[in-house]
Parts: sequence; structure tokens; C-alpha cells
Amino acid sequence: EKGGFEHFMLKEIYEQPRSVHDTLRGRVSAKQGHLVLGGLRQYLHTMINAKRIIILGCGTSWHAGLVAEYIFEEFARIPVEVEYASEFRYRNPVIYEGDVVIAISQSGETADTLAAIELAKSKGAIIFGVCNVVGSSIPRVTHEGAYTHAGPEIGVASTKAFTAQVTVLSMMAVMIAYRKGTIKETRFREMLVEFEQLPDKIEKALQLDQQIQYIAEQIKDADNALFLGRGYNFPVALEGALKLKEISYIHAEGYPAAEMKHGPIALIDEAMPVVFIATQDSSYEKIISNIREVKARHGKVIAVVTEGDAEIRHMADHVLEVPAAHEALMPIIAVIPLQLLSYHIAVMRGCNVDQPRNLAKSVTVE
Ligand code: F6R
Repeated sequence: EKGGFEHFMLKEIYEQPRSVHDTLRGRVSAKQGHLVLGGLRQYLHTMINAKRIIILGCGTSWHAGLVAEYIFEEFARIPVEVEYASEFRYRNPVIYEGDVVIAISQSGETADTLAAIELAKSKGAIIFGVCNVVGSSIPRVTHEGAYTHAGPEIGVASTKAFTAQVTVLSMMAVMIAYRKGTIKETRFREMLVEFEQLPDKIEKALQLDQQIQYIAEQIKDADNALFLGRGYNFPVALEGALKLKEISYIHAEGYPAAEMKHGPIALIDEAMPVVFIATQDSSYEKIISNIREVKARHGKVIAVVTEGDAEIRHMADHVLEVPAAHEALMPIIAVIPLQLLSYHIAVMRGCNVDQPRNLAKSVTVE
């Protein structure tokens, strides 16, 4: 059942070229220039005309929502607020009739997300679900939705569900932006090609496995780790840190790289591994300065970079090269080495990766 892999988590990490392919199947065709989401019909115009979008989720699903915030705002020019479902539901949030809520959940059973949906719905919001488990509770209470089609996720740490969620949300953003006219035909077509290239690029990122095992050996005994990214890669930093702490029990924090100097920089010394997600995008020059700041304090830098990057290699202790992609879709590729890094560190520390202590696959109590 683990298909020859030692753990479900590793199997699910390796499934991602396939699962993202399944997420895209029947929805994107670069050749025909089409992008369709069967579950977004009746409320497509509501979304196009939305004054704002509220995204709800917990944990990794909340991180997928943060990536979506960047792409919805940049491409579709719709203001987005991403909220932890647990906070949203208890703070008497302002919801207007006709507001659009996107609820993200792998299991479709998360109690806080479900309750937040019910609350928003009772105030007249239109609820769109992005779920993985077909027929689960959340898809039953939403107005419309799109399944992620990642297949069953058994490992408690979410991996393939995250890449599928970001893929679906990015498809939605690109489709809405194109219909709305905030992106032109050329950009739309370019993104369709980018979507179709994702499975191959994920496959390439998986080939970093040997190198990642070597890096894992070097840092497996650390007590703390920092994950830093900017722009589209900021949520990837949060996700990298969450993966590491939940399965290896190493204390890890994710931060927007520029926030480092407002506090976390005090933690940096030669014992602190700092993982940068520093692919060549619009914040590239900025993140290079952040890497310099860490090196100046003798932090150990592991950098996820774009293939062929010549600059960071001379600064970082280790570089992990991933294929180039449009920056909006880079999270789907850049997260892969971070999943593998956490996995190997956890295995080396003797942790139960598929069933970490104190955690459940679906959190059906608040
Ligand atoms: C982290 C993880 C959790 C879930 C969270 C939400 O690896 O798995 O943080 O992402 O409990 O679960 P769903 O997406 O099922 O609502």
C-alpha cells in the first residue's frame, strides 16, 4: 500500500508529479487556450465582480491561502484577506451580503473551518470550497467548489494536498483575471503553458533527494531552524517551518525575510540553519541582501534557488536548484525540497513521520 516507499509521507511527496497532473486534468489546455473549472460556473460572475475575497483555512491549508492572496491580488486585482478559521469564527467578523469566501481544507472535516463557513454563510456570503476528500462535510455546505483531486493523503503531514490546493487556487485566479480583463491574452496563454509544465518541474525537484539527504545529515541535530522567503515564497517559508516542526520536533519558524531584522536576527549564530527560498523572482535582489545578513552572523545557509543561479552559490553553504517557473507558481515547485528535507531529518532523528505525536489527520474538534 506504500508502493515500495518506507512511509506514506515519502510516497505522497513522490506522487506529486502525478497528483498535480490529476489536478490539472480536463481543466487546462494550453493548445486549445482553455482553462475551465467545472465547479465554478454559477458564481463565476460573483467572483469576477467581488469587492474582496476572504480565504479561510487552518495549518497547511491556510498557507495555501496565503499563496493565493498574492496571485489573486496581482492577477485579478481583488483584495484578499486570509484568515485562520479559528480566529475568524470567534471575533464577530464583518461580512457583507455577497462577499466571497474561499474555504480550503484537505480533509473537508476541520471543525473550525466548517464552523467559520456556517457563520459566513449565515451572513449572506457566497462560499467556494477547495477540498480534497470527495463527499466530506465542507463540500456539502458550500455553494460551489473545486476538488483538488490529489488522491488520498494518509501521512499526517500535508504534502500533495498543499501543491494541489495551490494549483487549484492559481487556476481560479488566472481564470478570473482573464475574464475580468486584468490580464491579457498573452499572459493568460503563458500561464496555461506554465501550468502544464508543473508536473515535469516537480519531477526535477524530486531529483534533489540525494543532495537533500546529505544536507539533512548536516543539520539533523539542530534545536532550531529558520525559514525565510519573500513575496510568493513567504508562505513557502511558513510551510517549510511547519513541516519541520511537526514531524521532526525541531523548533522552526518561518518569516518574511525582511522581518528578520525586526527580531529573529538575534537568534542567528553558527548553530542556526537558515533555509532561504531564494528563486529568481521580483524579490531576488532583496533576498540576496538578507542572505548576506545571515552569513555575516555565521548562520548556516541552505538556499533553494533557480537552476543555474551563479550568485547565491558563492554565499550559501548549500544550494538546491529547482527549475525556473513563473514566480506565481514557484511555491508549487519550491516546497518540494522542503518537504523532503523535513522528511529525511525526521527519519534520521527516529521520529514517526506518518503519525507524529499529538497530531491527528483531521481535526474534527475545535
Ligand atoms: C500540516 C497539516 C495541518 C492541516 C490542518 C488543516 O501538515 O496537515 O496543519 O493542514 O489541520 O487540515 P485540513 O486541510 O484537512 O482542513
